Amino acid sequence: MTQPSRTVHIFIHPNITIIFALTITLLIFPLSQLAAQSSNEQPEINIIPQPLKIERGQGTFDFTSQTFILPETPDTVELAKLLAKYIEPAAGFEPMIANHKRESSTIILSTREKNPDLGDEGYILSVTEDHIEIHANTPAGVFYGIQTLRQLMPERHFSKMEDKDDHTIYPIPAVTITDKPRFQYRGLMLDEARNFHGKVFVKKLLDVMAIHKFNRFHWHLTDDQGWRIEIKRYPLLTQYGSVRAESPFANDRSTGDGMPYGPYFYTQDDIREIVDYAKTRHIEIIPEIEMPGHAQAAIAAYPWLGNLDDHLPVRTTWGISENIFNLEERTFDFLENVLDEVIELFPYKYIHIGGDEVPKKEWINSPHAQQVMRRQGFTDVEQLQGYFVNRIENFLLTQDKYIIGWDEILEGGVGVEPSATVMSWRGTKGGIEAAEKGHDVIMTPTTHVYLDYYQTKDIRREPPAIGGYLPLEKVYSFNPTDGINEEDSKRVIGVQGNTWTEYMQAPWQVEWMMWPRASAIAEIGWSQQANRSYDDFYKRLETHLMRLEHMKVYFRPLIDKDEMVKPAFPDP
Ligand code: ACM
Repeated sequence: MTQPSRTVHIFIHPNITIIFALTITLLIFPLSQLAAQSSNEQPEINIIPQPLKIERGQGTFDFTSQTFILPETPDTVELAKLLAKYIEPAAGFEPMIANHKRESSTIILSTREKNPDLGDEGYILSVTEDHIEIHANTPAGVFYGIQTLRQLMPERHFSKMEDKDDHTIYPIPAVTITDKPRFQYRGLMLDEARNFHGKVFVKKLLDVMAIHKFNRFHWHLTDDQGWRIEIKRYPLLTQYGSVRAESPFANDRSTGDGMPYGPYFYTQDDIREIVDYAKTRHIEIIPEIEMPGHAQAAIAAYPWLGNLDDHLPVRTTWGISENIFNLEERTFDFLENVLDEVIELFPYKYIHIGGDEVPKKEWINSPHAQQVMRRQGFTDVEQLQGYFVNRIENFLLTQDKYIIGWDEILEGGVGVEPSATVMSWRGTKGGIEAAEKGHDVIMTPTTHVYLDYYQTKDIRREPPAIGGYLPLEKVYSFNPTDGINEEDSKRVIGVQGNTWTEYMQAPWQVEWMMWPRASAIAEIGWSQQANRSYDDFYKRLETHLMRLEHMKVYFRPLIDKDEMVKPAFPDP
């Protein structure tokens, strides 16, 4: 068989071949150019958490140094400045803030038109070739619109690059996004008692939380192994309570490392600074002051808070201490005085008072605790825990503050007030029961959102962790209202990921354990269940991880998508 094209080449004059080739090229080139342009004009949209509704438009808005930001209502002025600040490091210029709408290239932020469908945190973001508009009922809604807008920009916009060449135009795809959250409480918890990570780290965490539209940071500040918040009236809490003699080795939990740890704590000025920083990002901080258990660091500082005559050290091993607060009046006075200072620092509705894992041995052996039982007519020592929590709750209510507690606060037979919010951590059962009793509930079950658990069965590939196995896909599969009837589901106000840090000494380890599992939790909290699919999330995540990389977040890479199906190793 002869090959026709060869025959053609042999018999036709070479110039004709060139003309032919040129014609073909000219014919094909504009088409391929067009194709490239249209794919440029329609860049992919990969937003996490997934918005409610995305309607694609035609073309792009080109964000350039000539683009102005117009805060149309006074409550958006600060947001305009924040957006300009977000843009500046990577773009190399800070966009100007305008006071009137221009012919073109204006980003309008506004709460002027009220839209009941959007609620307190929803927004409509519309991008056309001429303008970008973000409309919401509240500054929070505008803020979330800004976060979505950032995710329409090239990933490098998330960078704080020193090198500012070659990146002055951001094409933003034309689109209308209508969005609002599924849950009002979307949280992450960081334990800073076991390992302390400090102000710079916490601010970076708040920045990363903000791009995920998280709105609650639960700050675990006190525990057996350390007290990390300055209380002016009781200086020994931080002078002694923020230092421990040593910590367990990560790879050999039975042996101490012999290295004093601390003093590490936040001053009240630090706390105010971080609360302000979070507020700008529409994140409320919920401090946790643990009681009546997980209190050994406080008892080490002030031995009269405990049940024993001994002086205790700040705990140097992980696990749960049996040394808990006593039930004396001066201990309640102490806690009220501490909470008075805490309330001053955190201007929000909720204080977390812990309440989990309280061994009762000391109360059983304490003549004073037994006397309280007789006085109250209790027959079971567990009732003392309800009594303790209820007293603190009633004190806080007089200050117009409400408690959040771990699900144990419902135990003990002495009821907490209906206004107490329950964090369901031992599965969702406690949360379901709490919802039935009329409490607000935040779902934080170990089975799905404990970020201290391993992410792989091949633990040689991971830094040491507490144990467990919680891969990304399992996190994503969690639906906070599963197994709850429609009426009680209304009591489920949200979801939270918990980061206990016994095995996370360095900040990079915290980031490795959090991300991208916390990205999945953000989507559980924000996106409608019907709008969620793991495969789609996973696809969007590939772009999203580039954003995190630009933010210098040490996330865990996606190395084993199929692990749930085909575990690399048998069950440990
Ligand atoms: C907890 O994990 N002990 C609340």
